[in-house]
Amino acid sequence: MTTTHQPLSPLNWTGSQLELLDQRQLPERIEYLHLDTPEEVWEAIRSLAVRGAPAIGIAAAYGVVLGSAKAVQGGTDAWLDAVKRHAEYLATSRPTAVNLFWALDRMTARAEALAASGAPADSCQEALVREAEAIHAEDIETNRLIGEHALTLLADGMGVLTHCNAGGLATAKYGTALAPFYLAAERGIKLRVFADETRPVLQGARLTAFELHQAGIDVTLICDNMAAAVMRSGWVQAVIVGTDRVAANGDVANKIGTYGVAVLAKAHGIPFYVACPLSTIDLNTPTGAEIPIEERPAEEITEGFGRRTAPHGVRVYNPAFDVTPAEYVDAIITEKGIVRPPYDVNLRKLFETR
Ligand code: MRU
Repeated sequence: MTTTHQPLSPLNWTGSQLELLDQRQLPERIEYLHLDTPEEVWEAIRSLAVRGAPAIGIAAAYGVVLGSAKAVQGGTDAWLDAVKRHAEYLATSRPTAVNLFWALDRMTARAEALAASGAPADSCQEALVREAEAIHAEDIETNRLIGEHALTLLADGMGVLTHCNAGGLATAKYGTALAPFYLAAERGIKLRVFADETRPVLQGARLTAFELHQAGIDVTLICDNMAAAVMRSGWVQAVIVGTDRVAANGDVANKIGTYGVAVLAKAHGIPFYVACPLSTIDLNTPTGAEIPIEERPAEEITEGFGRRTAPHGVRVYNPAFDVTPAEYVDAIITEKGIVRPPYDVNLRKLFETR
């Protein structure tokens, strides 16, 4: 077991291919997929080979350039048409994480500007690849800043509970909610992480426990239904989670079960923090009620991981996310600093001072 305090990279761009760590195989196998087409990227996003809001956005950005590469011979109009077509197609892969749409909109806007500049299609394509690379690189710095801000809310010796995986695997590097743990480890600050296993597909057990453990960070895995007891034991002084979309009023969509954790935190007087980049804040979505919540196949619950655990034919409800009302969120930690209520005013201010 290596103790590098560094997360594994979930995606790499080789110059012509997208290499994706296949997160469905974790923690048993470290296997990279080699993707050549937008269709393969779409499938990787839909099937959770790559997941986590920022990582989905980065993968989709590379998916666009994989699609537009083949259209270069047709000239600039055909190239721009291919960019738009593939962006629209990739946007159908998953509905909740707004980073997906943010990245695709950014790629489309850049392509439109490049085409309007009169540059030949091959130069446009090269510049668009650089845009995808910029989205990828910026995410690393963004997460490092989120980690710095988050660390100001934590102190040596604290226990911190997290849900799902908002770590290095869910982003370009470091993660959002897990970023402070990597920074703390580098600086010798001792934090004790409690990772909810996160039913139904166990991102907490398979991914958060995996990435923190392999980085030598103190992590204790618990089942979701143990969080209340662990809080009552006095082992948790803060909760930090990531998010797929923050509405303009501060309501937060994140992995199913997050809302329950927030309610428990409030009941125990424990601060509940949400860590995310500005690209996850969606001022066009007024409240959590308007956030589209993905529903996933029943098999994730009835026969996840190859073993049947429910009767054939039983009715199943499997929402992938829930919404935590803003009143449960003590602070939202972004790359531009820590935002406190009233969120309807203070989230907007973040964008005004950009
Ligand atoms: O279904 P997933 O695994 O994509 O869900 C991921 C989460 O809920 C994360 O907490 C969220 O995307 C934030 S990642 C920095």
